[in-house]
Amino acid sequence: FMKRRKKWSRYPPGPMSLPFVGTMPYIDFNNPHLSFNKFHKKFGNIFSLQNCWTNVVVLNGYKTVKEALVHKADDFADRPYFPTYEHVGYGDKSEGIVVARYGHVWKEIRKFTLSTLRDFGMGKKSLEERVTEEAGFLCSAIKAEEGRPFDLRFLVNNAVCNMICSIIYGGRFDYGDEVFRKMVALFENSLSEEAGFLTQFLNVMPILLRIPGLPQKVFRGQKAYMDFIDVLIQKHMETWNPEHTRDFTDAFLKEMSKGKEAEENGFNYNNLRLVTADLFAAGSDTTSATLRWAFLYMLLHPGTQSKIHKEIDMVIGRERSPTMMDQVNMPYTNAVIHEAQRCGDIAPVGLPHMAYRDTELQGYFIPKGTTVITNLSSVLKDESVWKKPNEFYPEHFLDVNGQFVKPEAFMPFSAGRRVCLGAQLARMELFIFFTTLLQQFTFMLPEDQPRPRTDGYFALIKCPHPFKLRAIPR
Ligand code: HEM
Repeated sequence: FMKRRKKWSRYPPGPMSLPFVGTMPYIDFNNPHLSFNKFHKKFGNIFSLQNCWTNVVVLNGYKTVKEALVHKADDFADRPYFPTYEHVGYGDKSEGIVVARYGHVWKEIRKFTLSTLRDFGMGKKSLEERVTEEAGFLCSAIKAEEGRPFDLRFLVNNAVCNMICSIIYGGRFDYGDEVFRKMVALFENSLSEEAGFLTQFLNVMPILLRIPGLPQKVFRGQKAYMDFIDVLIQKHMETWNPEHTRDFTDAFLKEMSKGKEAEENGFNYNNLRLVTADLFAAGSDTTSATLRWAFLYMLLHPGTQSKIHKEIDMVIGRERSPTMMDQVNMPYTNAVIHEAQRCGDIAPVGLPHMAYRDTELQGYFIPKGTTVITNLSSVLKDESVWKKPNEFYPEHFLDVNGQFVKPEAFMPFSAGRRVCLGAQLARMELFIFFTTLLQQFTFMLPEDQPRPRTDGYFALIKCPHPFKLRAIPR
């Protein structure tokens, strides 16, 4: 008992906790990273909060986050459990991937997903060919706007969603396709429901979930989205041929057919729907928001845009499509994309982790089961690393000779055991989509439009406020 008490005396400091609500009133849930930055200044790199009765520790700055996620990778690899998950099908041996507890089933599913993504397209179209093809469709749709002011969001979202569709369901949809529109709308509904205050509140007051009819009402959007996924999977099952793997769903069905042991390892029907829903959620808005940040910075920095145009003309020309091989010869474009990721800072507070066992960090005691927030924003804007942390400055990624360099504190995909599983795909999409669009167009701010805001708004991820642009063919 004395030993434990001594350990707790080294629990990280933090603001005073109020009865019942803890420290929740001090946090601006629309901008949690900004609230965290204030406490970071006051209490140092590691501070504690209390969400009602849940202990939360927030890690700040490159050194601290790296030490936790990389040097003490196992200790910080778990995810907190939220009671609302059960209402979208989360259960034993079926926890999806993003919020799965750190353990055997998560490991199996992550390994399988990574290797399926890596092998994807063997003997068929490679992932890169698919991205290039989609970039072509995106260009045609932008051309159809004929230089008029428009919001890029819808088209970019569709292009990025199509990549995930192509991986999971083996095909893309036309941007006007009714089924596709329905899917994207259901998906967006379900995301905003998940990010909403009510869902967050139910997670701290799960007893309310017992009120008859309430869960059905609150999770209507998520349920409709999962029902839609069921229909797509059912279609796959009807036409599935184990000899011929068309896509991720087929590869998963093949694992499922291996019997009881596979089922225990997480390869069961319920988990298939959760894993595919997770890939959609984790892989679409993230990439789409990053691209929108990149185009917003192009509107605000026309000089940077012209330098990219020059580099594209020199390395690729105007005729052939950009490929990933071009990246090494395009240090400036590469630096701009990285800087858009750093400055856009789309996952400012990452995803919540949980201490897998009692652990220590920089002399502080962090007990097993504590929710751990990695303030990735404080890493991407760490004043001890970046010369101009709060400005768009591509030179952060260039050495004195103009060659591309990547500082270690570039962590938009986080790090360690739970590092973003789709980072490689995301990097490919960012480079090919961005370079193809700039090869074809000059992006301009319409005269009658206000200067786009650079602060963004937070809803699970940090997105730019809506803005319009004009795309003039080059
Ligand atoms: C997790 C960022 C694109 C799939 C994450 C995490 C971050 C992140 C910060 C949390 C890591 C942690 O818990 O410490 C991003 C960014 C993207 C992007 C900035 C685009 C620019 C993608 C794509 C996919 C994807 C395209 C899918 C193919 C995932 C998955 C996880 C994850 C499955 C959960 C991994 C796990 O818990 O084991 N991502 N992501 N992400 N991401 Fe991404």
